[in-house]
Amino acid sequence: MTDQRPIVLLLSGPNLNLLGDRQPEVYGDATLDDHVATARATAGAHGLAVEHRQSNHEGELVEAIHGARGRCAAIVVNPGAFTHYAWSIHDALAAFDGPVVELHLSNPNAREPWRHTSVIAPVASGTITGFGGAGYRLALDAVADLLGRTP
Ligand code: DQA
Repeated sequence: MTDQRPIVLLLSGPNLNLLGDRQPEVYGDATLDDHVATARATAGAHGLAVEHRQSNHEGELVEAIHGARGRCAAIVVNPGAFTHYAWSIHDALAAFDGPVVELHLSNPNAREPWRHTSVIAPVASGTITGFGGAGYRLALDAVADLLGRTP
């Protein structure tokens, strides 16, 4: 039987494949797989399916967003450092019809000044920052709410 649940595209940008190893004092000990599992469990409780894609390449993320058009109900994106300068990702998200939730493990606004700018925020429905791994649960709850799926 094919999965009929609406799909949420979960996108992970550069260096997030190193989570667990990478600066655990900033990003925690959990791996990206752990976070994807949290997102899938939360989505499942709302009758949603998660499709995950991680890339260290800007163009691949742009193409993943294009591929979501007309196919996915929503996008949750942690763009990593692309957050701060990748206008091509901004433009691709602007051409996506459904809700977009920007997600960060850390709180970029409490870090170096160059992290205070997000070029993604203007095309996001909302942003979840600074809650560590719980952000993946909060982001999927937010998506469910935006899609009118919460009681
Ligand atoms: C991040 C914050 C970004 O500033 C950083 O470049 C990342 C991770 C976060 O999840 O906290 O790679 O998006």
